[in-house]
Amino acid sequence: MNKDYVFINEVGPRDGLQNQKTIMSSSARIKLIEKLIDANFPGIEVTSFVNPKAVPAMEGAAEIMKGLQDTKECEISVLVPNLKGFELARDSGAKVFSVVPAATEIMNQKNINMSLDEAINSSCEIIKETKSIKLKARGYVAVAWECPFEGKVDKKIVLSIAEKLILAGADEIILADTIGAANPASVSALIKECINEFNQDILSVHFHDTRALALANVCAALAEGIRKFDSCIGGLGGCPFAPGAAGNLATEDLANMLKQMGYETNVNLEKLPEIVDFCESELRTSLGGRMTAWLNNS
Ligand code: COA
Ligand code: ZN
Repeated sequence: MNKDYVFINEVGPRDGLQNQKTIMSSSARIKLIEKLIDANFPGIEVTSFVNPKAVPAMEGAAEIMKGLQDTKECEISVLVPNLKGFELARDSGAKVFSVVPAATEIMNQKNINMSLDEAINSSCEIIKETKSIKLKARGYVAVAWECPFEGKVDKKIVLSIAEKLILAGADEIILADTIGAANPASVSALIKECINEFNQDILSVHFHDTRALALANVCAALAEGIRKFDSCIGGLGGCPFAPGAAGNLATEDLANMLKQMGYETNVNLEKLPEIVDFCESELRTSLGGRMTAWLNNS
């Protein structure tokens, strides 16, 4: 990967929408994804194949996949919590699958009704299935820094989960700060340990901005050599099963900061305010990263 290129993986249509009070219709979700593709995002997580009773906002995942026609060069990924989700996603044409084991027992129970061991084994099985059909597997490690139920997470556990996912064939490991509890020092520390164990090119990070530290955490990750980040348009986001999980790092803030620092993302910044407006009007709530007002006026 070019040293100065940073890959922004937009996760608004999934992480961003899954916990909103107002549910966005499938047709509006397709429109949102099309707008994001048009703004040149290199990757978008478009939905999750979960039980709609557990996450009503993600109902219609197959419809979303069917509705996406011209995805250009964009890497379209979907989240799959279990084998059933993987099979449904595969059958609807998905090519990139994200599994989401969490680093603690209780978070896995709350999120996907599995123990820690079951979550790791199930994720590895899905990754192996994915690789057997020559498709791409992304492995999240949720609550990689801190769990809302069990507190601070031991780095060794995160490393051992990541190693198992990699051994199963994962193409990418994403360290997720699900509740926004990481800080630049803890981000550097965990990434350093990961890079000691495996190739940094497969590592990516996912920050929530609960304590206004997401951009600072990105800087810490950049300094360690990380060049791939998740973020959500408008700062949408939160996990329905992780109390205290506020919005994700806002994509427009991330893209703007990277541009000002001289990194190339290819994302068309000028198109972002209109996408934030679209989400605001669909969700009937006010959104936007810190720099939206400035971008609107410049
Ligand atoms: N997609 C759709 N439906 C699913 C499913 C999937 N991936 N996995 C299971 N189901 C359905 C089953 O068919 C069954 O349906 P029924 O009640 O009509 O018979 C029901 O869900 C229960 O099945 P079971 O295998 O016992 O699942 P569970 O109750 O243990 O729930 C999950 C497991 C993963 C499906 C559920 O916890 C879930 O959807 N969690 C969402 C996690 C999430 O999105 N978190 C935020 C992102 S990290
Ligand atoms: Zn998240």
